[in-house]
Amino acid sequence: MRPSRGGGLGDVRLYDTIDSTNDEARRLSEGGETGPLWVRSLEQTKGRGRRGRTWLGEPGNLFTTGLFTLSCGPAEAANLSFVAALAVAEAIDPHVAQGAVSLKWPNDVLIAGKKTSGILLESWQGPYGFHLAVGIGVNVRTSPDGIDQPITCVTDHVLTGMPQVSAEILFEGLRARFHDWFDIWAKLGFAPIAGAWLARASGVGQPIIVRLPHETLEGRFHGLAPSGALQLEQPDGTIHEVTAGDVFFG
Ligand code: BTN
Repeated sequence: MRPSRGGGLGDVRLYDTIDSTNDEARRLSEGGETGPLWVRSLEQTKGRGRRGRTWLGEPGNLFTTGLFTLSCGPAEAANLSFVAALAVAEAIDPHVAQGAVSLKWPNDVLIAGKKTSGILLESWQGPYGFHLAVGIGVNVRTSPDGIDQPITCVTDHVLTGMPQVSAEILFEGLRARFHDWFDIWAKLGFAPIAGAWLARASGVGQPIIVRLPHETLEGRFHGLAPSGALQLEQPDGTIHEVTAGDVFFG
């Protein structure tokens, strides 16, 4: 069964400051909120990144979490990280040079090859159903230190003569694009999402290094499995499916 959306783009709850928009989405669901709902904060004091990392919450950047109640299970719900990455990329597109925005597995958004957005999916079973939090951070005005890859912010790439971009403008763009892609996913499944994601993915066919918690793999980025796993072509030609890890190019 495909998940239902519940109509509209979802309400928005805006906060001046919060610990983590993902945590707030979870608290709201525990209070009976089922979504679709977007939590946004102007700053975060305890923002979380993938694999237990910290995500700094400087004002001027975008911190938001979409809360959904889904009728699918966790494996299918994980498709929504690709939906989110596409939505962020398309929200940034109009503000920067054509072709500047690309995607990096599993769900980073890059501008000119540097990370500008990260996505953290969290799911849980609550009394009202299976909930998913789609947490999205976009470096809009500043590029906080502390991550192990080149980083940038949207402002540094805004085309000359174009108005400066704000967290609010990007938020409204990504919310609309997220719900458009969500509808496509709900009707047609993951295939069109995977196709659109791959069309703007960095490094397809190129040598990559995948860092897992206890080992590092090297090979060629072959493509996406139907589950969204990264297909790594190993030197002997076999394809290894990676479900979680950090990708480094070259
Ligand atoms: C990553 O490590 O790349 C994912 C970063 C996700 C950060 C966002 S900011 C909004 C939401 N709230 C959080 O605490 N984390 C996510």
